[in-house]
Amino acid sequence: MLHGKTIIITGVSSGIGKRTAELAISMGAEVIGVDLHKPEMPLGTFIEVDLSDKASIDALLKRLPAKIDALCNVAGLAGTLGAPKTMAVNFFGLRYLTRGVAPHIREGGSVVNVASIAGYGWRANLERTKAVVAEIGFPSDMEALCKKHGISELSYVNSKEALLLWTMQAAHEPLFKSRGIRVNAVSPGPVETPILPQFRIIIGDERVDSDISRVGKAGTVSEIAPVILFLCQDASRWINGANIPVDGGLEASVNAEVIGF
Ligand SMILES: NC(=O)c1ccc[n+]([C@@H]2O[C@H](COP(=O)([O-])OP(=O)(O)OC[C@H]3O[C@@H](n4cnc5c(N)ncnc54)[C@H](O)[C@@H]3O)[C@@H](O)[C@H]2O)c1
Repeated sequence: MLHGKTIIITGVSSGIGKRTAELAISMGAEVIGVDLHKPEMPLGTFIEVDLSDKASIDALLKRLPAKIDALCNVAGLAGTLGAPKTMAVNFFGLRYLTRGVAPHIREGGSVVNVASIAGYGWRANLERTKAVVAEIGFPSDMEALCKKHGISELSYVNSKEALLLWTMQAAHEPLFKSRGIRVNAVSPGPVETPILPQFRIIIGDERVDSDISRVGKAGTVSEIAPVILFLCQDASRWINGANIPVDGGLEASVNAEVIGF
């Protein structure tokens, strides 16, 4: 179903991005992999990019082919490298890249943002999240930006809240909408990848263990990748601006608690 499609996948050297690339290739796609680190195994074309660095993203944009079918924004940081870096990679770099890639994406193409259950609280933190999303472009002083919006230890959470809100907004942004490019999010719960121990440092063992025990286990990369790729296919053409939790029922369980049933 992805035969002959060209898909850019960020975060291709590890975890969810790596599995998404392997699966896309097995489904017939050409993959342009993007990451800060070289993949151990060759996964189509690879371009080394630092998504926290505007100049590095600009260099990538100059190397893209004329026609791209989909962009999967998978790369992310847990927050252990600090708030400015985390906001840059998880939100501002992602958004800058996506807007830069958009003119290359064919009419009716797709953008998939890997968010997280961690972004669940965007409604509760609406004013701050709206203010972050309203920041223009790729702010040059990320440290000042984090201070301005009170973003510190929980930058991972804040970055994913912003990403979920922007996903809805982007689905209606003329840059995408005028050419029928869909923008959706996939929100995993805990998944067994190298980032998981880092979440334990940031949000604590108790929260991670509670999330896992609500659904019986952590997810695997093979449970996330097919959903990301489904959103790249024409079969999902009427899904736009949506967030699909891929978490074994974790979000439903949190909703039940919040709603009180
Ligand atoms: N694993 C989980 O429990 C989980 C849960 C919810 C959401 N997610 C999200 O899934 C996505 C993928 O995470 P993962 O679990 O595969 O983690 P991972 O650590 O295995 O992979 C992340 C990848 O992003 C790349 N990356 C980091 N900084 C970069 C930068 N500056 N420029 C370019 N690439 C960079 C890394 O090199 C790595 O290959 C992330 O956005 C993460 O927030 C993961």
